[in-house]
Amino acid sequence: MTDITVNASKSYKVHIGAGLLSETGRLLADISKPCRVMLVSDDKVLPLYGETVKKALTDAGFLVSEFVFPDGEQSKTLATFGQLLEALGAAGFSRSDMVCALGGGVVGDLAGFAAASYQRGIRLMQVPTTLLAAVDSSVGGKTGVDLGSGKNQAGAFHQPSLVVCDTDTFGTLDETNFACGCAEAIKCGVLAAPALFELFERGEARDRIEEIVSACVNTKKSYVEQDEFDTGARRFLNLGHTFGHAVEKCSNYETPHGFAVSTGMALIADASVKGGYLKPETAARIKAALQKNGLPTDCPYDPAALVSCAAADKKVSGGEITVVLIRDIGDCFLQPMELSALGELL
Ligand SMILES: NC(=O)c1ccc[n+]([C@@H]2O[C@H](COP(=O)([O-])OP(=O)(O)OC[C@H]3O[C@@H](n4cnc5c(N)ncnc54)[C@H](O)[C@@H]3O)[C@@H](O)[C@H]2O)c1
Ligand SMILES: [Zn+2]
Repeated sequence: MTDITVNASKSYKVHIGAGLLSETGRLLADISKPCRVMLVSDDKVLPLYGETVKKALTDAGFLVSEFVFPDGEQSKTLATFGQLLEALGAAGFSRSDMVCALGGGVVGDLAGFAAASYQRGIRLMQVPTTLLAAVDSSVGGKTGVDLGSGKNQAGAFHQPSLVVCDTDTFGTLDETNFACGCAEAIKCGVLAAPALFELFERGEARDRIEEIVSACVNTKKSYVEQDEFDTGARRFLNLGHTFGHAVEKCSNYETPHGFAVSTGMALIADASVKGGYLKPETAARIKAALQKNGLPTDCPYDPAALVSCAAADKKVSGGEITVVLIRDIGDCFLQPMELSALGELL
């Protein structure tokens, strides 16, 4: 097991390792007196892992209630959020109780936002079961739901009190969801961890999962500790996301996030070559590593469509956007630019 401590506005431990679901009760008991726990999950994950977590928490003295909703992004809404808040209220949860998110990023974001809002904030435990949630969404404190106007348009920063990542759970992920997690992990490698990137280049992802999650959590930790509220260094984590979000939007959200980020990284690698910052052979390595891990690198949309979709990104402020450009594996930089100049990158 690997333990990482994140020192944000709250300090918390991230435990990463095989077989940790059955340890969730013991690990929670290390930081909390017995209390009520609302186990939040979706209807795909709960049948797979709900009983193990419920038993572990109950055996450790916690009183567990359950809230389950249909899996998928279409559930990440104000309606589900409202139902969860009402369930917390109806079950008599108090400020000393907590929410446990068991699932992927959808469960984590929704349960996290409910924990941030219920009685102005109760504790949250994240138990990520997708690679994407493990390497990205379960750490760092961003929570939220989608609105009609766009993804993650309502939310709050609310750091978890504990993260328990059982790497065995990735064994039941389908290829697409596994690859989506790889996209965010390759992003961390390109940003700040050349050894992590090389592991994906060699196609070793399935066999070195604890190491991968640990490296990504350490990368994310360093940006979050510098800039918890995403106004400075944390923006590096947006590598590939400006065009990635545009690809998602152009596809009417049919393209999974990780696939869109992969295409976005390929586009930004080419843009970095065009700008004279990155060697063409390094851009080729980035694209080859993405492809080797089942990820797309060709963009089906023309530049004009991408730029118009990018304009809707919530990170555009006052007609300006900051993109992350690449100098080398492990060496990226932030480039603020006028939205109108974005097309010149393509
Ligand atoms: N808060 C953040 O910092 C942050 C960062 C990145 C992404 N996100 C959000 O995360 C969401 C995407 O996360 P995701 O890709 O985990 O999506 P998800 O939660 O929808 O999970 C993907 C699918 O995998 C299933 N699943 C989950 N764990 C499984 C397992 N172990 N075995 C089999 N199936 C399993 C789910 O039921 C779902 O069908 C998006 O809403 C995105 O906005 C948030
Ligand atoms: Zn992402």
